[in-house]
Amino acid sequence: MEKIGIFYGSTLGHTRVIAERIGAAFGQEQAQVINIENASIATLESFGNLILGTSTWGVGEMQEDWETFARQLHKIDLSGKKIALFGVGDQVEWSDSFVNGMGMLYHKLTDKATIVGFTSTQSYNFDISLALKNDQFVGLAIDEVNQSALTQERISRWVELLKKSFN
Ligand SMILES: Cc1cc2nc3c(=O)[nH]c(=O)nc-3n(C[C@H](O)[C@H](O)[C@H](O)COP(=O)(O)O)c2cc1C
Repeated sequence: MEKIGIFYGSTLGHTRVIAERIGAAFGQEQAQVINIENASIATLESFGNLILGTSTWGVGEMQEDWETFARQLHKIDLSGKKIALFGVGDQVEWSDSFVNGMGMLYHKLTDKATIVGFTSTQSYNFDISLALKNDQFVGLAIDEVNQSALTQERISRWVELLKKSFN
């Protein structure tokens, strides 16, 4: 498998910790974890496989460092790359915009690269999310506020899926 760059945007640290746990599941040799706040286009382009993670803030907005970085996404060459997304949110308090930030990233990237790692919405309970396509999440949805006990199994299952889907 080609090297994986895991780029996260996190305000209070939940998404950073999830990025580190996903990185640990792949192993240090395979995956590098990077804060999107300190990333350049060239750094993203240097990986064959990308995992991009954002929390959701405001009412259904991307985390602010991702929002800033996303303004440059039109300049990036992602052709031939495989991208997987993860979103961190709160399905109880924000049931009408659960992990919307992940959905926004998906819509910005879907024409530029192959997005892999869709997951089932079973075991979640929310009303509306922009991060859905054909009734599946467009990546891994994590809710550390309400379902932290399910997080490790969700990560492990997703990482096994990505091992089969990545370049
Ligand atoms: C003001 C505010 C707005 C939020 N809006 C949403 C939202 O629209 N959708 C969602 O799923 N979670 C929302 N959340 C929950 C956060 O995404 C969640 O707490 C997440 O774990 C924060 O991760 P971070 O510390 O990595 O930024 C919101 C939280 C706050 C405090």
